[in-house]
Amino acid sequence: MLPSLTLQPIGFLRTRQQVKFQAGHQPSAADEERNELELLPGCNYEQALRDLAGMERVWLIWWFHRNDNWRPLVLPPRGPSQRRGVFATRSPHRPNPLGLTSVPLLGIAGRRLSLGPCDLVDGTPVFDVKPYVGTYDAFPEARAGWIDAMEAELRKPPDFTVRLADASDHQARWLKENWGIDFTARLIELLSRDPTPHRTRRIRRRNETELEIGCGAWRAVFTLDGKRVSVIALEAAYPLSFLVRPDYKDVPDREAQLAFLARWPAKT
Ligand SMILES: C[S@@+](CC[C@H](N)C(=O)[O-])C[C@H]1O[C@@H](n2cnc3c(N)ncnc32)[C@H](O)[C@@H]1O
Repeated sequence: MLPSLTLQPIGFLRTRQQVKFQAGHQPSAADEERNELELLPGCNYEQALRDLAGMERVWLIWWFHRNDNWRPLVLPPRGPSQRRGVFATRSPHRPNPLGLTSVPLLGIAGRRLSLGPCDLVDGTPVFDVKPYVGTYDAFPEARAGWIDAMEAELRKPPDFTVRLADASDHQARWLKENWGIDFTARLIELLSRDPTPHRTRRIRRRNETELEIGCGAWRAVFTLDGKRVSVIALEAAYPLSFLVRPDYKDVPDREAQLAFLARWPAKT
């Protein structure tokens, strides 16, 4: 047995993505998103960053710190409902919870790295930064088995049409205008592919006519009629009794959920 390895983060990622639902499955090149990696003071990291400025992209090696379990077989959130060996996936539920993401490097100021789109949530501990080197790291022709097949499927037009009914559209606008919270694009993307119950996609049946999907700190309630999905209501994911407790003050979107519940009280 080798001795165990203890790692200390070199810094933490700062992003608007508070909950896992908001983070992409992988970073999306189309996004305008800006993020910041703040390295810890007093460790000479300013010096360690020397010469990185010429790099257009960097690799981040980071900790899936919000997970505390792993499974040999996982159900990927996209594509057909089929379990895959965890080592054939990018699942966050791994024996060693390490994430690997290549991100655009937009600038460096002291210990702060300004980064483009990424798939980490706010506060994620980062263990290492390495230059992305196309000559070493890019093999665009390399086959990627089931992932290639799934991506090809996802390029086809989605099977389901998704519509926000008046009430949920009004709630979505209210969240966006008052709190800058907007998860409808992600919601529509997920439901238009497959709105049937699925553990990883957090879709479950509520009763005979209604289903719900967890969207981080929020939930969307929808009905399904053939290939038509109607989102009929948005809900705060946390009950009021939790949100008012001082020990729950770090719940994502807590203030917004409280205001939402004041306006649209939860049905009991
Ligand atoms: C599918 S993983 C891929 C991560 C990385 N690109 C990789 O391939 O190792 C990306 C997802 O991890 C989740 N995630 C992001 N930060 C996390 C964290 N700190 N702890 C646990 N899960 C996290 C989010 O749900 C995000 O959509």
